[in-house]
Amino acid sequence: MADLDVPLATGLPGDVRLRTLMAADAAAFARHIAADLPRLSVFLPWPERTALPAGAAEWLARYDRGEEGRRLVAGVWAAGELVAGVVLLHHDEGTATIELGCWSVGTAEGKGVVGAACVEALRLARSWSVERVEWHCDPQNARSGALARRLGFRLEGTLRSSYPLRGERRDTEVYGLVEGEIDDALTPASPP
Ligand SMILES: CC(C)(COP(=O)(O)OP(=O)(O)OC[C@H]1O[C@@H](n2cnc3c(N)ncnc32)[C@H](O)[C@@H]1OP(=O)(O)O)[C@@H](O)C(=O)NCCC(=O)NCCS
Repeated sequence: MADLDVPLATGLPGDVRLRTLMAADAAAFARHIAADLPRLSVFLPWPERTALPAGAAEWLARYDRGEEGRRLVAGVWAAGELVAGVVLLHHDEGTATIELGCWSVGTAEGKGVVGAACVEALRLARSWSVERVEWHCDPQNARSGALARRLGFRLEGTLRSSYPLRGERRDTEVYGLVEGEIDDALTPASPP
């Protein structure tokens, strides 16, 4: 798995770092998911099974093993706790494509934390010669769509009834960031 350890400039006080998560981080990972489980579960399928250390360890291990193109899981640490994260998955070297995913706990939302982490993930993807990054989100997930657009992603279409989430069929909006647009995203506008 990719090795990432970089400082992030965000609206949170103190030092904030983004670094690759390993099996040893499973307890901290489960703790931050469990602390915000109802909110994180609204649009994400995996928080329920990662809110305990065993489930978190198995989820992190899939990235460590590089299963199905999983290339990166990295967490944002602030004041010694995990507050957010990014993943790069579904990497296909043949087509030079990858998918970017992200989350934050509620206390780190609205402070540019995930945006800054996404920029670092995009930088890594570009270093692997990726030419197309996809962003998948629920059409009702306004904050996710807003972040994608702020990073320069364009909405390309909606996959209707694309997967089940807790008994309900859900749609998926697919955003794309391609070629030079990825480079443009690496130098974001100044924070407010
Ligand atoms: C989707 C999600 C990751 C978006 O996070 P976010 O915090 O809104 O995104 P950003 O990190 O880009 O932060 C943007 C906000 O920080 C502000 N900001 C940006 N840089 C800043 C800085 N340096 N200092 C202070 N504020 C800053 C922006 O003005 C913006 O403010 P606003 O919320 O008032 O518009 C988050 O809502 C989340 O985790 N939701 C639950 C899980 C989820 O849905 N994941 C995505 C699945 S597709």
